[in-house]
Amino acid sequence: MSLVPVITIDGPSASGKGTVAQRVAAALGFHYLDSGALYRLTALAAERRGVVWRDELAVAKLAGELDAVFDGAAVLLDGNNVTEAIRSEGIGIGASVVAALPAVRSALLARQHAFAEAPGLVADGRDMGSVVFPDARLKVFLTASAQARAERRHKQLLAAGEPADLAAIAADLESRDARDRARKVAPLQQWADALLLDTTDMGVDEAVEQVLSWWKNALSA
Ligand code: CDP
Ligand code: CDP
Repeated sequence: MSLVPVITIDGPSASGKGTVAQRVAAALGFHYLDSGALYRLTALAAERRGVVWRDELAVAKLAGELDAVFDGAAVLLDGNNVTEAIRSEGIGIGASVVAALPAVRSALLARQHAFAEAPGLVADGRDMGSVVFPDARLKVFLTASAQARAERRHKQLLAAGEPADLAAIAADLESRDARDRARKVAPLQQWADALLLDTTDMGVDEAVEQVLSWWKNALSA
């Protein structure tokens, strides 16, 4: 059980979880856990070592031994800066393949718990409120329509100067979300104790304000 206050933000790809979670963490002075980055790092580590993503035991071993460092916005793997490399859609797909393997999820559990340090934590992912921090004080399920999410990712990639095709992005997000929803362990879904935040027609500022207002209510409850 986590002794520090935890806010969890789960939801599908490109719904704005990371952006909103980081803003909420900054507003409260809390730590931030991007749990998806751990699955992305695991997929990248496997690819670089020639381990196939579906080899559960070999990938779980890699996940347990990940030499990963989060240094502000930068992410290092084996001492190399992989901040950009883990963000590709290819590694996103690899992340969702390795994330469906129970032994890999178990291997990453302790590392995620270690982020829960005073004064508090905001954690984003798929199973933050259901499996990793089930006793979190506030659980949010953040979503947006499939079209809005594909457009957001498209805009994000163009802004980063990367080639991006809207139809291909929409197809990638759809297949990744379908895999995340269908898997047996820690599937993506809105659990009964999570508050729904649909940001299809909502900007980042408004979404952050809503989470902060729920947090205020949770503290006074
Ligand atoms: O972490 P996740 O994949 O859920 O999404 P993200 O990377 O935080 O957000 C994807 C993009 O959508 C970012 O460029 C955000 O600024 C943008 N966004 C938005 O336009 N409106 C929102 N309400 C939330 C995010
Ligand atoms: O940024 P985006 O929302 O597209 O993905 P992400 O949060 O970086 O997660 C990449 C993949 O890791 C997801 O598609 C999930 O398969 C997996 N993941 C997971 O299974 N559990 C989590 N807590 C976080 C990510």
